[in-house]
Amino acid sequence: MFPAVRPRRLRRTPAIRRLVAETRPAPAELVLPMFVREGLTESRPISSLPGVVQHSRDSLRKAAVEAVQAGIGGLMLFGVPLTRDEVGSAGTDPDGILNAAISDVVSEVGDATVVMSDLCLDEFTSHGHCGVLRPDGSVDNDATLRRYADMAVAQAAAGAHVLGPSGMMDGQIGVVREALDKAGYTDTAMLAYAVKYASAFYGPFREAVESTLQGDRKTYQQDPANLREAMREVALDVAEGADMVMVKPALPYLDVLSSVAATVDVPVAAYQVSGEYAMVEAAAANGWIDRERVILEQLTSIRRAGAQIILTYWAVEAAQLLRQGY
Ligand code: PBG
Repeated sequence: MFPAVRPRRLRRTPAIRRLVAETRPAPAELVLPMFVREGLTESRPISSLPGVVQHSRDSLRKAAVEAVQAGIGGLMLFGVPLTRDEVGSAGTDPDGILNAAISDVVSEVGDATVVMSDLCLDEFTSHGHCGVLRPDGSVDNDATLRRYADMAVAQAAAGAHVLGPSGMMDGQIGVVREALDKAGYTDTAMLAYAVKYASAFYGPFREAVESTLQGDRKTYQQDPANLREAMREVALDVAEGADMVMVKPALPYLDVLSSVAATVDVPVAAYQVSGEYAMVEAAAANGWIDRERVILEQLTSIRRAGAQIILTYWAVEAAQLLRQGY
């Protein structure tokens, strides 16, 4: 009449639950995406991402130091330029906002954290696409690769430790690796956005970078319906020399994350994107959910599904919560 097995025994006290917890996100696994906008003298809020700002070059340096002090694993930098053109010239200009910000941050924090940079043209092109366009308006894969090669060398020269190619062009990892090696940057690593879906969850990010995109990215980013295709993308990126691979967005794609993690032998990252963040902040602002518990529950789930590294706008706050043993 009594159950022979009682799983509840191991849930009885906080101490027992702590002892048997299988997954514990750690500050060192969290990476903070940061935005720096050309021409700002102080940071500026992003309305759809409460708590996230567009930094000035100065406020970025200070925030980078705070992030290091919080013990997080790395920073991922995005630049917002004042002027944009057809080919995204500001992305390859050594004095362009992103390249300048990389060297600011590296000179401020050195090797105390991992400085990563987004390697994509969309913030720098007048049309907002992740590549250069043909006369008919379609994105020209191979012409774009030449731009990525130059951009990669500029970011490596600025001192980035890790580059994050996020444009979803075919062959981008191989081309960037070759360009980096030729230029002598054999130690600059790549975190490949191997699996990047054409997602509506990027909405608030578009405000953060003042995106000019009309239409969508469905001819280069992946169809949310597909898992098999994701595995093919990952295999290609690893074969082309990716040091780490990423799945993005995170929470709606935990099955993909889990399959990728079970398959590759390089570190796997997940990007909890702007829309994921904004939904939680909006619900919490309405008093509908317990904000801190939801943040940590989501990070735990992303970790449990197989992400060893998590890019999250909550990185610094989550590190503090985790430290308090939340
Ligand atoms: C492209 C890029 C995007 C994001 C990161 N890198 C936008 C896009 O592909 O449209 C989205 C990140 C987020 O939503 O938080 N440079």
